[in-house]
Amino acid sequence: MSRGATTVVRSLTMSPRLSSPTVAGNSAVIRAITGPETPVATWWIKSSPVFGARNASTMTLSEKEHKEEKVKDRKEEAVGGGGATAADDGGWKGKEVASYWGVPPSRVVKDDGSEWKWNCFRPWETYQADLSIDLKKHHVPKTFLDKFAYWTVKSLRLPTDIFFQRRYGCRAMMLETVAAVPGMVGGMLLHCKSLRRFEPSGGWIKTLLEEAENERMHLMTFMEVAKPKWYERGLVFAVQGIFFNAYFVAYLASPKLAHRITGYLEEEAIHSYTEFLKELDNGNIENVKAPAIAIDYWRLPADSTLRDVVMVVRADEAHHRDVNHFASDIHYQGLELKDSPAPIGYH
Ligand SMILES: [Fe+2]
Ligand SMILES: [Fe+2]
Repeated sequence: MSRGATTVVRSLTMSPRLSSPTVAGNSAVIRAITGPETPVATWWIKSSPVFGARNASTMTLSEKEHKEEKVKDRKEEAVGGGGATAADDGGWKGKEVASYWGVPPSRVVKDDGSEWKWNCFRPWETYQADLSIDLKKHHVPKTFLDKFAYWTVKSLRLPTDIFFQRRYGCRAMMLETVAAVPGMVGGMLLHCKSLRRFEPSGGWIKTLLEEAENERMHLMTFMEVAKPKWYERGLVFAVQGIFFNAYFVAYLASPKLAHRITGYLEEEAIHSYTEFLKELDNGNIENVKAPAIAIDYWRLPADSTLRDVVMVVRADEAHHRDVNHFASDIHYQGLELKDSPAPIGYH
């Protein structure tokens, strides 16, 4: 893993209202959004216990005088500011937000000085995948619990194979919606445990949440090459409801089992991506250009293809496999995760 230098600077185009600690411009902001002030908007601002009282008590004369200028500034920012589009910035649509807190966005630039266009992740979260990781490593199930975990995962694979057949792009996208759940559930439960017991987690909260975020970035990437159909979205809805709760209960009952299940899920993910690569090499799936989000997230060369993306995603899965089998092994030795330093940033 390597991390490059990044630069963050505060936006120089920040409006006077946003840079001011006072909160005078509420009605101005509302009008900037809704256009000419309407009776409804005026009533709400004046009668609001938060906006109204704060507005009256903190607005200075000079601020009132400059109110119209601020409206103009905000309108100009909304039209010309940012520069990113909804298509290339992970969902930012440049909408105005009516909030007097006015937290200004950081202006982030790449190493080459060009604008960083992703709001859903930042340069310091990117990395180069370690492709040298052993993809064939397998935890041989010996105990009853291990065998239960192994056969649970194997039995889940059967309906998945039937449903998706050889549609590996779609399969990857759908499976990532499930793969991002265990890290979040485990991280959340360890977080609560740390609070309850007044004790540190040994870095495991961060490690598991990192895993969840990494899996979610896999999903964001594959969404660029496979668009889910309406019934697939419905399926994700149902599966998430079942899987989240089942994994939550499993983790409460036995973290040892839960991490082992995730370890075997990751082994299956490696297998799926290997099959994906075979289909790409056979020409059954077109090796299209890598999505821009993937090029920035994994620091890939600009001319990378879908095959390169699948390679780095598969390496990620192998790292998740190691982390989860390791976590299970810690429990097997009668220890808790906090007793062993977590592999934070293990990619
Ligand atoms: Fe994944
Ligand atoms: Fe994974």
